[in-house]
Amino acid sequence: MKPGPKAELESLRRQVEHHNRLYHQLDKPEITDQDFDRLFQRLLQLEAEHPELVTPDSPSQRVGSAPLGSFAQVKHARPMLSLDKVFDEEDLKRFEERCKKRLGGDTDLVYSCEPKIDGVAVSIIYENGILARAATRGDGTTGEDITHNVKTVKSIPLRLVGASIPAVLEVRGEIFMTKSGFAAMNRDAEAKQERTFVNPRNAAAGTLRQLDSRITATRPLTMFCYSASAGNEGELPDELEAIFQRLGAWGLPLNSLRRTVSGIAECLAYCHEVLAQRNSLDYEIDGVVVKVNSLAQQQALGMNARTPRWAMAYKFPAEEVATTLLDVEFQVGRTGTITPVARLEPVFVGGVTVSNSTLHNMDEVERLGIRIGDKVIIRRAGDVIPKIVMVMRDQRPAQTRVIVAPERCPVCDSPVLKDEGEVSLRCSGGPVCQAQLEQSLIHFASRTAMDIEGLGSKLVEQLVAQTLVMNLADIYKLDEATLTNLERMGAKSAQNLLANIDRSRTVSLPRFLYALGIRDVGEATALNLANHFGSIEALLNASEAALIEVPDVGPVVAGRVAEFFAEPRHRALLQQLLDAGVRPAEQQVAPRESLPLAGETWVVTGTLEALDRNQAKAVLQRLGAKVAGSVSARTTCVVAGPGAGSKLATAESLGIKVIDEAEFLALLARHDSAVEKA
Ligand code: IVH
Repeated sequence: MKPGPKAELESLRRQVEHHNRLYHQLDKPEITDQDFDRLFQRLLQLEAEHPELVTPDSPSQRVGSAPLGSFAQVKHARPMLSLDKVFDEEDLKRFEERCKKRLGGDTDLVYSCEPKIDGVAVSIIYENGILARAATRGDGTTGEDITHNVKTVKSIPLRLVGASIPAVLEVRGEIFMTKSGFAAMNRDAEAKQERTFVNPRNAAAGTLRQLDSRITATRPLTMFCYSASAGNEGELPDELEAIFQRLGAWGLPLNSLRRTVSGIAECLAYCHEVLAQRNSLDYEIDGVVVKVNSLAQQQALGMNARTPRWAMAYKFPAEEVATTLLDVEFQVGRTGTITPVARLEPVFVGGVTVSNSTLHNMDEVERLGIRIGDKVIIRRAGDVIPKIVMVMRDQRPAQTRVIVAPERCPVCDSPVLKDEGEVSLRCSGGPVCQAQLEQSLIHFASRTAMDIEGLGSKLVEQLVAQTLVMNLADIYKLDEATLTNLERMGAKSAQNLLANIDRSRTVSLPRFLYALGIRDVGEATALNLANHFGSIEALLNASEAALIEVPDVGPVVAGRVAEFFAEPRHRALLQQLLDAGVRPAEQQVAPRESLPLAGETWVVTGTLEALDRNQAKAVLQRLGAKVAGSVSARTTCVVAGPGAGSKLATAESLGIKVIDEAEFLALLARHDSAVEKA
């Protein structure tokens, strides 16, 4: 007898999910892609005919759905903790000693170890085996509901299979993008002249924050689970490894490199093994997580403020590799600064292929004692740009070339100047220098400035080379006929670009000020200036004395701003922009009080990974906080990275709130988008 649609759908769903798992998780497909497509198409067709039979766990839900308006907040049943970190073997041994001391025994502990994945932490709740909700870590207590996005990740089952599945099961783990998937996605984006991502972690984070899950569905995300808990006691085994076995049997994705070891010596051996494999893995890791295997011991060890005492992250050193300095080029920036840039024999380090690295200035060249032809060591840690850290002097080849500072601009041939008291060289050509013009245009159009998507460096080069754009205001004179005459520019792209250019006419005042590219006026300063003066007209006529009144504007910046607006060429440019219909929205003067961190004083100490201290300072200021250099009773909160010393100690003794980088980033994610939208 032919099965009814309900039974057939049920069977199709199971088959599709089964083959999904074989393909995406186990890498062992048993049927051809065509056969899989046939099953999937049949499923879609039958569901279309019987919409009342569509279930939330149907694989059809993986294609994504119409965009959400915003993310709902989700309170975690138990806080999502961070991990303490150690950077060397001695500190890891001390971790074991502390555990033993607390547990009051001297027998070796058993640990569950696995690579620390550089991705995004998520919590997924299964109710009666069906994926019910997924959330980000957020600040550890409250995250964002990203169920719509997580459902599109093919290695995450929508329905668990097998026996003894707890009625409510929460699994936590890391969602990430493979290196190969990331590279393919960026190649694709480049070909379409779309935005590319910096690294797999940012790409994964950005993808999970998509409101439109149809976009998420096209991105190569995947996941490893690293912990689980059940709604009722006794529903899960009492050892981590045994829990992992169950999770695997239910169809959840796990890292196959995980290992249960006994004693810290075995742990260290495991860490070395993983470190040796690091570059050959198709995902980014930044260390190993060591967890006490027994849940009873975990319970007995308990936790610190935000970290469990039973787990430790053993962080790998920043990656370093050797390569050769092929040449040094001098690049001209938008303010005319001339920077020596190292051209390197391409090497893969820290998840990206590096072929260039800035040498900053001639003082740095001298400090490194570097010559063209030298073998050098480059380092790349996290999001930090790759850097030459050392020259291998003992391997210097017979033929090397000394790096000589240029006397004339390599682009426009104007004389090169060196400002008093500064290390950098500067092209004196101003706007006649094509490089300065190009860089100003790229900066103007960039995401954090006027946000003109589609106006990237390749296009800017063409526009400048063909003298179609000779200053910032010329952007607003472009038309479809001119654009479609350019290389790689179809009618559709041209129309999109023109729409984006048009949209930029009404940017916010802080963005507009930042976009002008006034020396030393970054995003935070631009915001402060906008908040203080409220309109471009008011700022245009401000004296240096009035400028110094602005928070965080000192005499140097005040001088730069006054000088910029006093320059007749700049006033003419502003007029042209206004004539072209650019009308930066007036800013409510002094809405500082309404900013989320208004009235608060923050201190940043220790090393942060995702952003440097200046960036952290800038975002805090953007959110209305004052950033201080030292901790006092008036400090609201301290952001402490590893290596934090006396400031952290002072904060603790004064009972001032201290947060780590993960919490800080979560807080920014919550507030920053709010500010961005405003
Ligand atoms: S276990 C108490 N295992 O690292 C938290 N975490 O720095 C237990 N992470 O927020 C976490 N890979 O998102 C664990 N194999 C792994 C991990 C891992 C990455 C992340 C996790 C956590 C962060 C802490």
